[in-house]
Amino acid sequence: MCHPCASLIIQLILHIDIEINVCAILSIGGWTGSRFWSTAVGSPENRILFVRTVTVFVSQYQLDGLDFDWEYLNRQGLGCNVIDPNDTANFVAFLKELRQDPIGATLDLSAAVSITPYNDANEKPSTDMSEFAKYLDTIMIMNYDIWGSWSDAVGPNAPLNDICAPAAKQQGSAVSAVANWEKAGVPLEKIVLGVASYGHSYEVATKDAFVDGTTTELASYPAFNKTARLQGDSWDTDNLTIDKCGNPQTYGGNWNMWALIGAGLLDETGQPVDGVPYRFDDCSKTAYVYRPDQQVMISFDDPMAFAAKGQFIKDMGLGGFGMWEAGGDYDNILVDAIREAAGF
Ligand SMILES: *[C@@H]1O[C@H](CO)[C@@H](O)[C@H](O)[C@H]1NC(C)=O
Ligand SMILES: *[C@@H]1O[C@H](CO)[C@@H](O)[C@H](O)[C@H]1NC(C)=O
Ligand SMILES: *[C@@H]1O[C@H](CO)[C@@H](O)[C@H](O)[C@H]1NC(C)=O
Repeated sequence: MCHPCASLIIQLILHIDIEINVCAILSIGGWTGSRFWSTAVGSPENRILFVRTVTVFVSQYQLDGLDFDWEYLNRQGLGCNVIDPNDTANFVAFLKELRQDPIGATLDLSAAVSITPYNDANEKPSTDMSEFAKYLDTIMIMNYDIWGSWSDAVGPNAPLNDICAPAAKQQGSAVSAVANWEKAGVPLEKIVLGVASYGHSYEVATKDAFVDGTTTELASYPAFNKTARLQGDSWDTDNLTIDKCGNPQTYGGNWNMWALIGAGLLDETGQPVDGVPYRFDDCSKTAYVYRPDQQVMISFDDPMAFAAKGQFIKDMGLGGFGMWEAGGDYDNILVDAIREAAGF
């Protein structure tokens, strides 16, 4: 899809042909960087300037493409983003105009998206995304943060499936997300599954953590202390910082794979260790560990979870996977597991 290239890698989307080609792609937006996305594409004049800005930038740094990580269209993200009922229409107009540009026409274009299609003017998921599929090479579904500190129980960060879960626990999954986007007109081979190398931690009392009458079998969807703000691993440094909207931040509580292994909660191959209660949920195909001494439960993807997602990619004929983030892995155990199962 893209040719071998230079060195500025902000976010790398892993394509099937990773072994022979590495592409440098700039990602624009993100959770903290989407305040003015709506404005940048919000008028014909602004779109002309934005097309010029990004094409000059990719030329200057000899990039292969662009990734659009707008969080989110006509839906509030960080808290102070500009949003507009016409966001989705304006974004597709921007993509069309970018493709009409001689540089834009040659770029590898992707978008990082939610588990439901972009909101329409009524703040409902759009039913027709086929126009986007014409301009974008790939869409990466960010199938993570489905459950977290905002949820009412401990649940899977990145569920593969949830149809097998109790109705109230069906908050979205890779299976339903791919179905949503396919139904809206995006071909499966253009869909890339976003996977997470980190998990979320929760303060869970011992009495809630275990199935009644056991001391080793972890309970599903236990209650947790919503007041507690747990620190995750050493990358989790957001205590008392101020975000772009001026709001104070607390710890996110995330644990990357390298940290789970470093803390002795898994062995060096990502397998459970004796003495650390572990559960693999057969519906979401994701893992949990519990630290009784600290009353902390962590929901995450281990190599088995990644292998299940790789199998799904293969079975569905998806375009590949994208990982947030490669540096969260340990000795490539997650990347190797998903690539092997996907047959890459
Ligand atoms: C919404 O955006 C589209 C595409 O740019 C444009 O054709 C349409 O006039 C816009 N509608 C409003 C109400 O701004
Ligand atoms: C929940 O966490 C808060 C903040 O750390 C703490 O003050 C409180 O005692 C905890 N509640 C329980 C029931 O442990
Ligand atoms: C956050 O930082 C403040 C000030 O350094 C400190 O008092 C507080 O204990 C920290 N919170 C946690 C959960 O570590």
